[in-house]
Amino acid sequence: MAQEPKSYDRVARLLHWVVAAAILLMIPAGLVMVRDGLPRPVQDALFFFHKNTGAALLVVIMLRILWRIFHHAPPLPRDLPNWQRKVAGLSHGLLYALMIVMPVTGYIRVRAGGFPIEVLDAIGFPVLIPRNKALADTASWLHETAGWGLMAILALHIGAALYHGLVRRDGVWGRMWRRGPRT
Ligand code: HEM
Repeated sequence: MAQEPKSYDRVARLLHWVVAAAILLMIPAGLVMVRDGLPRPVQDALFFFHKNTGAALLVVIMLRILWRIFHHAPPLPRDLPNWQRKVAGLSHGLLYALMIVMPVTGYIRVRAGGFPIEVLDAIGFPVLIPRNKALADTASWLHETAGWGLMAILALHIGAALYHGLVRRDGVWGRMWRRGPRT
């Protein structure tokens, strides 16, 4: 039987940190760009960044999920309490789900609202959703609500990573950060 890997592979680590960095930029951009009183050029730049990076991110996130399906995660430390294993599994599942829900609802909100996604338009990517105000409003609500859910779970995820890295020092932090087995 093949031995379980002790650390995430290079591609998994790269995809994790690229997606993490992009999401950590997308969230403040999304929160700021909808505020009243923002200078128009700043708002336009934030919308441009948010819509186009978000659309590209959907592709990277799908690659990340595909990679994860075909490459097992290394096992958690044996002495980790069972409830922490369950919370980890549940929160990772929710993170993957929200990483899909966010760009998809964002895309629907923008297209059903009749707005451009400049880079997709420039490369001639077809508009997949017809204009529809009710659909745009529902997608907007879902995008905002899922965004708050994502922020809550990200806070839990980052808190757990710090707990493993600083308190338990059990190698769980290191295996997403650097190569090679560690216990
Ligand atoms: C992982 C990807 C994404 C994340 C984490 C994200 C996050 C957010 C957040 C936190 C907000 C603020 C919600 C609020 O409080 O009103 C927001 C708003 C918004 N996002 Fe995204 N977003 C993502 C992808 C996208 C994509 C792909 C698009 C469009 C192509 C998009 C379009 C929008 C729009 C138009 C708003 C303003 C909402 C409205 O006024 O209806 N987002 N996003």
